[in-house]
Amino acid sequence: MSHLNKHDELVSNGSDNPSLSQLIDAHLSRRTVLAGGASLSAAGLFAGLLPMQAQAAKPVLPAMPRKATALGFQSVPFSNADKVVVPDGYTAEVLYAWGDPVGIKGNMPAFKHDASNSAAEQGVQAGMHHDGMHFFPLPMGSRAAKHGLLCMNHEYIDPGLLTTDGNKQMTEEKYKKALAAVGASVIEVAKQKDGSWQVVRPSRYARRITLETPMALQGPAAGHPLMQTQDDPTGREVLGTFNNCANGWTPWGTYLTCEENFDAAFCDFSQKQDHDFNKTRYGVQDEEKLYKWADIDLRWDRQINRNEINRFGWVVEIDPYDPASKPVKRTALGRIKHEGATPALAKDGRVVIYMGDDQRFEYIYKFVSAKAWNPKNRKANRDLLDEGTLYVARFNEDGSGSWLELTQGKNGLTADKGFASQGELLIKTRLAADLVGATKMDRPEWISVNPHKAGEVYCTLTNNNQRGAEGKPGVDAANPRKNNLFGQIIRWQERDGDVAAADFKWDIFAMGGRPDAAAEEHKNHKQLGDLFGSPDGLAFSDSGILWIQTDISTSILNQKEYAGMGNNMMLAALPETGEVRRFLTGPNGSEITGISFTPDQTTLFINIQHPGEPASEVSDPAKPTAVSAWPDANPAGRPRSATVVVRKLDGGVIGL
Ligand code: FEO
Ligand code: CA
Ligand code: CA
Repeated sequence: MSHLNKHDELVSNGSDNPSLSQLIDAHLSRRTVLAGGASLSAAGLFAGLLPMQAQAAKPVLPAMPRKATALGFQSVPFSNADKVVVPDGYTAEVLYAWGDPVGIKGNMPAFKHDASNSAAEQGVQAGMHHDGMHFFPLPMGSRAAKHGLLCMNHEYIDPGLLTTDGNKQMTEEKYKKALAAVGASVIEVAKQKDGSWQVVRPSRYARRITLETPMALQGPAAGHPLMQTQDDPTGREVLGTFNNCANGWTPWGTYLTCEENFDAAFCDFSQKQDHDFNKTRYGVQDEEKLYKWADIDLRWDRQINRNEINRFGWVVEIDPYDPASKPVKRTALGRIKHEGATPALAKDGRVVIYMGDDQRFEYIYKFVSAKAWNPKNRKANRDLLDEGTLYVARFNEDGSGSWLELTQGKNGLTADKGFASQGELLIKTRLAADLVGATKMDRPEWISVNPHKAGEVYCTLTNNNQRGAEGKPGVDAANPRKNNLFGQIIRWQERDGDVAAADFKWDIFAMGGRPDAAAEEHKNHKQLGDLFGSPDGLAFSDSGILWIQTDISTSILNQKEYAGMGNNMMLAALPETGEVRRFLTGPNGSEITGISFTPDQTTLFINIQHPGEPASEVSDPAKPTAVSAWPDANPAGRPRSATVVVRKLDGGVIGL
């Protein structure tokens, strides 16, 4: 979401071990196929696991992913073209656009280009605004690279595009269509003989998860009085998920989808000037904003339904291999405006999840599970994420850093400070992080773990135009630029290469910016290779290339300080040299997001989000294609967010 100046304008915070990873991967494949578990394509998850554990399994080595020492493509220039541009030798094809049928047998309505599909039809079609995404091989537990399930988020809606005449006049049907257009998709995808990919329709796995899908609340905050509502006095069941931004996955083959700007739908018609924690620290406002859902359903009015908002802001776990499974909100991972949930394995086998909280001056977190992952028994891991310890990061000026524990009763997090239980603390995660002295960052977005260097972790800090402004926090070593319009990528090395460590060393890997900028704080003289700004999506491929996707707000895209830098883009970087090379540029008004590779790295799935978004960030239903008609090139249609498949024409590994 390119929200430089929309709802996140508010500042709420007033206060190298590839051979080893291959051994583990082999261990996983062999053991979990037998046990019905899942293996993973991301070698990074396993970097650093004890060699003894790996050797005990006497694995058969899979093909070693070659570690990239150079990038094997010519960079693409800045672009203003209304299309996806990739380097020579590559192809980019649309796979799954907003409104395409998800593939439920007997219920596959086609997209209507005037946006006249009903709410019921939208509920079995691709949602809007594709974001985080992950490829799960079929069969489960294999390293299949030609057949699998794609899980993806549909982050939010553009009311100007969703229906034929926008939401100026709100109706029950428009409201229901909005609920059906957010959440997530699970689609079955298969590579064809000619190398292209198709959605398999119908598919027994095909599923839409919407704002009306029942899900469980589990972990320490489940059942807490602050989670109880009139409709759910137990505080243990909630309808749906929305504003699902980036994502994660688990070693046992489940998808993690992360609730980000949940405050956007809530309002308080009473305009009570109260100052509860949702207002002071989670940015919820009294007046009704873009969506106008409270016009139809008092679920979104905090005067009437005080606690509904507390049931959002969580990480949700979905089992894509079981279409009947009930998604679960894992409250142990904290309640923040979650960007993603990046997995890693500690040396002792516990699961670590790294998470950014994307708002100005918010924090970076990690969760360490209490128990180790059980690779032999998938079911044993089902509720692993319900128990563990949450930490928040402090980045010291001298390049050291520490993880500060957020446990009730420790570090001053006591009842008299408003944290009477771990459940209450988690509902108010941001307030707990304030108290322990975490470092206020420049909007933490995606996080990725280097598969070739144990315990080395990267995080995009997309921008922060309030840094150093009057009354706002000033610069620090980790966030060194005032009025930070271009962002940076920070990285840290966990002590002893163990992702469960209590402390780390950090440095800044890359800075956005340009050498010809007017203001000193927007200059970038050190960049090796191509320029970029507002980094957001971030992921390593197994070859050790770090992929960076940008989300420059459409309010500034290719103008003002970004003039001449064209549309949003995707770049490749090499961690050791720091070289950055532009790989792909997107259509007009879009951001590039969602990154997932097949296990053999020959197919890259990405998402093009909000093509056609105007500088105001909301489309005019009378002129829906004013900025872009991608991907259909139909002037009478709608620009549509879509999943795009990128391949090398010779079938080789992407990027090499
Ligand atoms: Fe939804 Fe932080 O991007
Ligand atoms: Ca994002
Ligand atoms: Ca962003």
